Amino acid sequence: MTRPASTPWESLIDGLAERRWHVWEGFLGRKQVESLLSEAEALRASGGFRAAGMGRAGDRTVDPSIRGDEIRWWPDDVNDLGPQAAQLRARLDELREAINGSLYLGLKRAEIHFAHYPPGAGYARHVDRPRGSGDRMVSGVLYLNLDWKTADGGELALWPQDGAEARVEPRAGTLVTFLSEDLPHQVMPAHRDRWSVTFWLSRASAPGLI
Ligand code: OGA
Ligand code: MN
Repeated sequence: MTRPASTPWESLIDGLAERRWHVWEGFLGRKQVESLLSEAEALRASGGFRAAGMGRAGDRTVDPSIRGDEIRWWPDDVNDLGPQAAQLRARLDELREAINGSLYLGLKRAEIHFAHYPPGAGYARHVDRPRGSGDRMVSGVLYLNLDWKTADGGELALWPQDGAEARVEPRAGTLVTFLSEDLPHQVMPAHRDRWSVTFWLSRASAPGLI
């Protein structure tokens, strides 16, 4: 029996349900990525990014040997962002609803930030949500790196099952999503600046992070 061709949204949901992770190349087109990247660069140029920390408010630490990116959290009010960011936020809300409609994860909100890794920076192997803790259910990373080449490095390495390593190049418009719980992953250092929008779809209705 042949299955009807699925939409990219359905493929994403199937990927999460069946393999715990999914790659969607061309989630955004080049023009949209260019606009979003300009919005991120302008924010960074005006001092709107800060070194990414680990842990929650109170015991937050910064250690570039573990995590070397700088980030800018998106405000809940989209009017404080550029038009392309506002459009993306609306699309991520659609994604959240689509996942709720089929996987019943009860996702209530998206926590979103821009991330910039300077050349040489990475993020050591980690999980976004250790088993049994927190409210983050789905992690997503959308890459904004135009004309990325394999030799530029900066891959996302994922270990969705014991022993099986997957790698994703951070090419403009590629969206990688994965289940946040217990899925180890790592950002390899790159030879050039590496930009992304990173988000988590969460069951909590109020912000949990600083
Ligand atoms: C993170 C993360 C992956 C990437 O920010 O938690 O794992 O490819 N990012 O940027
Ligand atoms: Mn992560």
